[in-house]
Amino acid sequence: MTPISNMNPKKLFLQRFFLGWILLFPRWGTAQNYEIKSPDNELLLTVSIQDSGLYYQLRYLQDTLLRSSQLGVVFAAADTLRQFVCVSVDSGRVDEDWFPLWGVKSRIRNNYRFLRLTLQTKSGSRHMEMDVRAYDDGVAFRYVFPDSIVGAELLSELTAFNFNKDARCWWSWADYNTLEKTYQVGRVSAVSHFAAPFTAQTDSGVCVSILEAAIDDYTTMTLKKSELDSLSLVVNLVPWSDGVAVKSDGPFHSPWRVIQVAPDPAGLLSSTLLWNLNSPPQGDFSWVKPIRYVGIWWEMHLGLSTWKKDGGRHGATTTNAKRYIDFAAEHGIEGVLVEGWNTGWERWGEKDAFDFTTPFSDFDLEDIASYANTRNVKLIGHHETGGDIMAYESRMDSAFALYRKLGIDYVKTGYAGPVNPSTESHHGQYMVRHFNRVMKTAARYQLMLDVHEPVIPTGWGRTYPNLMTFEGVRGMEWNAWSSGNPPSHTCTLPFTRGLAGPMDYTPGIFDVLCDAFSSKRVKWNGEDIGKSAVHSTLSNQLALLVINYSPMQMAADLPDNYEGHPAFRFIEALPTTWDEMKVLSASIGEYVVIARRRGNDWYIAAITDEHSRELTLKLDFLEAGKRYRVEACLDTPLSHFEQQPESYSIQTGVVQPTDEFQCWMAPGGGAMIILRPY
Ligand code: NOJ
Ligand code: CA
Repeated sequence: MTPISNMNPKKLFLQRFFLGWILLFPRWGTAQNYEIKSPDNELLLTVSIQDSGLYYQLRYLQDTLLRSSQLGVVFAAADTLRQFVCVSVDSGRVDEDWFPLWGVKSRIRNNYRFLRLTLQTKSGSRHMEMDVRAYDDGVAFRYVFPDSIVGAELLSELTAFNFNKDARCWWSWADYNTLEKTYQVGRVSAVSHFAAPFTAQTDSGVCVSILEAAIDDYTTMTLKKSELDSLSLVVNLVPWSDGVAVKSDGPFHSPWRVIQVAPDPAGLLSSTLLWNLNSPPQGDFSWVKPIRYVGIWWEMHLGLSTWKKDGGRHGATTTNAKRYIDFAAEHGIEGVLVEGWNTGWERWGEKDAFDFTTPFSDFDLEDIASYANTRNVKLIGHHETGGDIMAYESRMDSAFALYRKLGIDYVKTGYAGPVNPSTESHHGQYMVRHFNRVMKTAARYQLMLDVHEPVIPTGWGRTYPNLMTFEGVRGMEWNAWSSGNPPSHTCTLPFTRGLAGPMDYTPGIFDVLCDAFSSKRVKWNGEDIGKSAVHSTLSNQLALLVINYSPMQMAADLPDNYEGHPAFRFIEALPTTWDEMKVLSASIGEYVVIARRRGNDWYIAAITDEHSRELTLKLDFLEAGKRYRVEACLDTPLSHFEQQPESYSIQTGVVQPTDEFQCWMAPGGGAMIILRPY
């Protein structure tokens, strides 16, 4: 990666020529080979057209990372696109800068070489294009089907990722209906069927992540071990109920199959590959604004109140909503989420349960919306669909129109439940199409989205910046009513799910033991073993707000637990978008330290797994010759994610770029450090 500070604004330049610098050489028998190198020449991808099919291999510096791996697809109409001749080659280079509306960098360099092979099946009847790009932080390729075939049915891909050597890896179970799982550590040779993003680290330390970018009208993938080769991972497409993976009536393309490569774990986190592989926004999205929010949310998960009105413990009442709005206004928090405001929760699990335009009788929607506007707080509306897509699609327009009319600019959607139509799974093309429709419809109403229970994100938020954040992760809610998430979970996420884009993990719990109101908690969830707690120290909770970037970032605890708390000022000071980032130290599943800059201020956030550690952080990224005032929320010698998770200490001081910072973290601990020049 080129550090952003070393970059000069670049002009886009594009060269196209046929069979130019791409070498055509017969190395593998009678193969036609096409090479493409990353701009820094460190990655070399070779596409090879052989008699038996289409293959690629990937080298990084002097090593083969992925040995010859198959490419191609299988269509239902007995025409596997496997054996080809190449009819033309297009290639060139792009180098440009772009400026996202929100994100972890205010300027992103899009610098790559590309190769487009137009292939024809040997029988001559079908075409396929291979789009290939090589960046410094990884390579990507996708299949483009330019022929318009009515009723095309793609059954599977032949795409494989054949590791050259066994490697350590971090993986989560494949599941066509949920992404809310923990991660396992293992060896590539021992995994079987798992979700993407998937990350491996070779014995020499090089990191490789496999993910997908820019899904358009396709299905999502999991990865399966080949039965013939213990180091071969093959794309497994989530099918429709009839077994077909992808249906199309016209030209279409696969998402980019992305192979991120970095010399170390820190490099994975600095990558902007996912964003660069998505298209720039079409139209004006200047109305899109990142926010922090609190919400009538954690209280339901803790069992202190309910989503439904019946039972006298309703969370979304007019009084309670105004209390949250007041709290947000007084502390400069931009937004308030309200869940359980609309009728239907009392019919959870039934078809057509939710009404997205009728509030419960104790929730005066119009009054609350106007109160929020007068207090300059943004309401975040909530649409829990329970997975009932057919009902939601028929009501979405009127639901969005109501929010637009009331000046509610943000919507959290949710899909907690089996998909209706019941034959389809959460992660298939049916749902990709649905999310695409929701995103575009929301954009028409100028609504910003936070999507829970989504398909795996693939960077759509670049093209539609109103699609701000996703869950798609085993998030904070699991700590409220299950055995929870171990500390290593949040140290693994940035290198796995986090590579797919913003994550609405909803951190920031100060009542870490979840016992401030324990006598009032009522068990509501079957997974609740009665011992729920967040497995983290308080400083770790603050650090997660910086480490897991989300342009809609929730401070998830109750206002009662924040009010008057000295550490809440770190949340009050939290930016919603960043100019620059540096990964100061990282080891997958063990610890992460990231420094993010907003204006002249730097925020350093550190987290560790179950083990305490002391890291020496160099501050040489600070501006030379300047002194910085430090305000830090740190673990204490007593802190421990199980025993004393709420023990913290706020320290102040002065540093300069030549200093080093000794960052000690308790088991399950963390640190949040703000540095302001003076
Ligand atoms: C699951 C979502 O992840 C959570 O945030 C929400 O509160 C519940 N569903 C209810 O909609
Ligand atoms: Ca969820």
